[in-house]
Amino acid sequence: MTTTDGGPENWWRHGVVYQVYVRSFADGNGDGTGDIAGLRSKLGYLSELGVDALWINPWYSSPLKDGGYDVADYRAIDERFGTTEEVEIFIEEAHTHGIKVIADLVPNHTSDQHRWFQEALDAAPGDPARDRYIFQRGKGADGSEPPSNWAAVFGGSAWEQVADGEWYLHLFDPSQPDLNWENEEVRAEFDSIFRFWLDRGIDGFRIDVAHGLVKDLTFPDVAQKAAILESERTADHPHWDRDGVHEINRRWRAVLDEYEDRMMVAEAWVAADRLPLYLRPDEYHQSFNFDLLDTDWDAPSFAEVIDKSVRAAEDVGAASTWVLSNHDVMRHATRYGLPNGTKWRRWPMTGPHEVLDESAGFQRARAAALITLSLPGSTYIYQGEELGLPEVWDLPQDVLDDPTWERSGHTEKGRDGCRVPIPWEKDGPSFGFGTGDPWIPQPARFGSMSVAVQTQDTSSSLSLYRTAIALRRQHLAMVSDFQLIDMGSDVLAYERGDVLVVVNMGSDSMPMPEGDILLASHVNPPGLLAADSAVWIRQ
Ligand code: BGC
Repeated sequence: MTTTDGGPENWWRHGVVYQVYVRSFADGNGDGTGDIAGLRSKLGYLSELGVDALWINPWYSSPLKDGGYDVADYRAIDERFGTTEEVEIFIEEAHTHGIKVIADLVPNHTSDQHRWFQEALDAAPGDPARDRYIFQRGKGADGSEPPSNWAAVFGGSAWEQVADGEWYLHLFDPSQPDLNWENEEVRAEFDSIFRFWLDRGIDGFRIDVAHGLVKDLTFPDVAQKAAILESERTADHPHWDRDGVHEINRRWRAVLDEYEDRMMVAEAWVAADRLPLYLRPDEYHQSFNFDLLDTDWDAPSFAEVIDKSVRAAEDVGAASTWVLSNHDVMRHATRYGLPNGTKWRRWPMTGPHEVLDESAGFQRARAAALITLSLPGSTYIYQGEELGLPEVWDLPQDVLDDPTWERSGHTEKGRDGCRVPIPWEKDGPSFGFGTGDPWIPQPARFGSMSVAVQTQDTSSSLSLYRTAIALRRQHLAMVSDFQLIDMGSDVLAYERGDVLVVVNMGSDSMPMPEGDILLASHVNPPGLLAADSAVWIRQ
C-alpha cells in the first residue's frame, strides 16, 4: 500500500530516532563543547543501542546565542563543531552502521550575524536587502512604538528598533531576525540549502518552527501571547500556524522528492485537529506529536492521547511519532516525579523542591520507555533519556545560557537543565564527555548514571533501552495493529499484534497478566506487576 509518506517499509515510519544535541553529546577536541569528532567516536555506542536514525540539532556556523538555532551560514559547520568535510565523513560512517542522519534546518529566522541581515542593516529602508526580513515602521507619529504588540517567545517584544528608526521582527531572540517568506529570494535560497545537504547524503530534515514561517503582514495586535512550546489552538493567529505555510511545505516536499528515500519532520506546535494538515501527501512525512509529552502520568489520559494520535495519523496515512523529551522541555524522568497538574514549564525557578519524588520519576520514565517503544510509528529518544538522566534544575544562575533567562528579566530559567553534557565515564573532569570543563557543569551524581556504569549493569536504564529496542525490531516495528484494552482506570493496556503491553499507572501492585514476559521495566514480585511499571507480554 502506498501511503502519505511512501510505502509502509520506509524507515521513518517505524524507526527509532535518537536526538543528538551535539554541543552536549561528546567533546572530541577537549574544548568543553561537544563536536562532530566526539559524535563520530560514539557511533559504535549508538549502533549498539540499536537506533535507526540520528537527528542532530543545528551544527551550522552560529554565534550560539540560542544553542545554534541562530544560523549565520547554512552551508558551513561551526568551527567549534567541526567542518563540512568532517560531517560528510560522519554521514558516510553513520550509513556504514546502518544509521540514517536527519539534519535540523532553521528556516524561520537567521542569526543577526548572517550576511543577509548584515546587508539589511547596511541598507536603507525600502531597499530589497531589507525585504528578505520583516522590517516595518513603528507606530505613533514618530514611529517610536513597535509595529504591534507581538511578544517574543523568549520574552519581551518581538520587535527591535534599528538605528534609522525601522523595526525588525524576531519571534525569538533579537539575535534571530525572522525571514520574510513572501520573498522569492528567501524561498529559492532554502531550496538550494536543502539540495546542498541532500547532495551530501543527508537522509532527512527536522524543520524548526515549521508553523511559524508565514505572518499576517498587516501586523494586527494579538489578544494574548501564544506560547510556541505548547500545543495551543493557533489557527487564526497572525504568526502561528497560518494556512500559507502549506504552500511552502509543498515546495520543499517537491525538492525532497527529487531524491530517493528522504524525509522531513515538522516541529509544529499546533492544535491536534490542525496537525494532519501538515501531513497531507505532498507535505511533511511526519510531524512531532507533542501531546503525549504534555500528558500527566495517568492511565485514562495516556490512553486517550495515544488512541487519538494513532487514529489521527492513520486517517491521513501517516505514521505517529512519539516524543517524551527533547532539548526544549524538562526531562521526563523529572517531570514524572512531579505531582500531576504541575506547571512544569515554569518549574523549578529556585530549589530545593519538596514536591519532587525523584524515585517515582525514575521508575515511571523506565515504564514510559516501554510505552513509546511499543507504540506504532516512530519513536524519538532524546540523548541521555536512555540513561534515565534527570533535569538538572539546580544549575547556578551564572552559568545559565538559554536566552530565556536574560529576556525574561531573570524570571524564567529556561532550558539549560535538559542540555547538560552526557556522562560517559564514572569519573574524570567531565565524566568522559571531554577532557576539560564542559560548557555547562554536570552534577556529581551524573557519574553513577554514566554509560560506563550502566553498561556493566543488566538492570540499568541503558540495558532496558537496548533490550527494548532490539525486541521492538523483532516483534513490534512492522506491526501496524493497535488496540486499547480496558483493564481498569489505573492501567494503560493495548495489544500490538501478539504482544500485550500493560502499564500499571496506579499506586498498588496488580496481578501480572498471563503469557510469556518478553520484557518488564522492573523486577516484579512473583505474580504481580508493581506500581509505575510496564510489561510486554507475548500472548
Ligand atoms: C527549537 C528551539 C529554538 C527555537 C528557535 C525551537 O522550537 O527547538 O530550541 O530555541 O525553535 O529556533
